[in-house]
Amino acid sequence: MLKRISALMLAGLTAMSVAACGGGSGGTGGSGGGGDAITMGFSQVGAESGWRTANTKSVQDSAKNAGVTLKFSDAQQKQENQIKAIRSYIQQKVDIIAFSPVVESGWETVLKEAKDAKIPVILTDRAVDSKDTTLYKTFLGSDFIEEGKKAGQWLVEEYKSSTDPVNIVELQGTTGSAPANDRKAGFAEVIGAESKFKIVASQTGDFTRAKGKEVMEAFLKSNPDIDVLYAHNDDMGLGAIEAIEGAGKVPGKDIKIITVDAVKDGMQALSDGKINFIVECSPLLGPQLMDLAKKVIKGEQVPARVVTEETTFNQEQAKQALSTRQY
Ligand code: AHR
Repeated sequence: MLKRISALMLAGLTAMSVAACGGGSGGTGGSGGGGDAITMGFSQVGAESGWRTANTKSVQDSAKNAGVTLKFSDAQQKQENQIKAIRSYIQQKVDIIAFSPVVESGWETVLKEAKDAKIPVILTDRAVDSKDTTLYKTFLGSDFIEEGKKAGQWLVEEYKSSTDPVNIVELQGTTGSAPANDRKAGFAEVIGAESKFKIVASQTGDFTRAKGKEVMEAFLKSNPDIDVLYAHNDDMGLGAIEAIEGAGKVPGKDIKIITVDAVKDGMQALSDGKINFIVECSPLLGPQLMDLAKKVIKGEQVPARVVTEETTFNQEQAKQALSTRQY
């Protein structure tokens, strides 16, 4: 009898300690459910691209899996909307704020307001240019300069045996955004080492397919001899492909195309030979974001910078990867 009671007590204690540890695995989100409830206010840039849609899904799914209550807002690519959303999260006294800043500058005031209210902030995907790094706990996202360099390195290799001038047009991302600034800078640094590479036109396409098409149409009218298009994301590249085909040229052959992201539509165009090279930028930041948020709230130390792991794809690699691409 005594033995039976001890066994029951032991079973009860084991169950209690499992509950205190926060329960089982949280599916795709590594954090697991349970523990103290966390409310996160998340201000998303918008829905400008396939990448952004996948990023939103990753954040929403991971919050669910990690047992985090998510208050989500879409800023429609406007900084003023993001500032309003952050102020509203401060008023609602959420436990933590995460956001992907549409542009790099102009965040100090609102981030100070969050700090004064003792609400920690995590930057995700894009950085801010504030020198005061105490305004946020960590920055999780890609190294956009590195992405630009990888695009440039492919081009240098592709034209290594040619001495002719190479005329490049560039479709930039949203003006003032970290990925537009950094992808431009990284690319320029690498190709700048050889004078044959000339950027003959460079303009923003705001990371959207429609703008990519419109700007490429204008580029084609004013520049008869374009050899290469460098688009800061797949969506603008895909819009530009429509413009190139509309002008009677063959994308991937008459004009070589390099893009960034590697979303499914981009990978499809790459395996169809319409794009020549894609630098990956992963949108699947949700699981890491939830883990970091839990650590920050527990007062644990987190790294100041968490860089996303990424690769690159040529046409053959895209054919291999396409069937298992999640987004
Ligand atoms: O900040 C990441 C960039 O934003 C992606 O490359 C682009 O597609 C998106 O809109």
